[in-house]
Amino acid sequence: MRILFCGDIVGKSGRDVMVRELPALRRNMKIDFVVANAENAAHGFGMTEKICLELFESGVDVITGGNHTWDKAEIIPVLERDKRILRPLNYPAGTPGRGSCAFTDGRGRRILVVNIMARLFMELLDDPFQAIQDVLPLAAPKHGGFEAVLIDLHGEATSEKMAFAHMVDGRATLVVGTHTHVPTADAMILTGGTAYQTDAGMCGDYDSVIGMTKGPSINNFLRKMPRQRMSPADGDGTLCGVLVESDDRTGLAVKVAPVRVGGRLSPTENGA
Ligand code: FE2
Repeated sequence: MRILFCGDIVGKSGRDVMVRELPALRRNMKIDFVVANAENAAHGFGMTEKICLELFESGVDVITGGNHTWDKAEIIPVLERDKRILRPLNYPAGTPGRGSCAFTDGRGRRILVVNIMARLFMELLDDPFQAIQDVLPLAAPKHGGFEAVLIDLHGEATSEKMAFAHMVDGRATLVVGTHTHVPTADAMILTGGTAYQTDAGMCGDYDSVIGMTKGPSINNFLRKMPRQRMSPADGDGTLCGVLVESDDRTGLAVKVAPVRVGGRLSPTENGA
């Protein structure tokens, strides 16, 4: 199976590059399933149902969130009724929505998608290392009844993401980090067969400070006065993601590669 994970979609630049590029990418790269993180899609903070529907229309199958999931309150009832939109798994019991869900692709293959949040330099949610044990089968994905298991680990610290990935190595098809908005150059298949990249990068305008306009972002570092209001940069966006090819007989990865299309980042070839 060929799976594309797209990193944090930031504002209109991020949404535009998804709508513009994803349909052709999906077709040309023979992608079977697409997951995208959209917690910054609504002007940098949160997501709305309208935005989610636009992303589904452009070829996204499942949307994941993070610490900004809740910024637009209107999404909360949508999280309850639309299983295609996930929030991190390790929020306290009773939090609206869900952190994992099983899906079936057009060929009847079962795909488990999990969204979970790290804790270093983040909100102190439930322990993600423990929380994942409740939803992740103990063996390779296929033995747990899935052709693929995809985990979006939303977090700041590279060490925490890497430790988490090694802990679940062999039990997931892909562990990919989100939240830092900068793609890391460590796409690899871990020794147990799980594809990994510490951060997928963002889908948005890179002529910015992690997606936000440069001036206010610089001023917030220069001055200790009340912070200036941040808004997303609105130039040409780069679609940043990770492509994984997996073996349906095991649910483990056979190939992983970064994907970059459009905007300022140097493009990947996206050939095979
Ligand atoms: Fe985030």
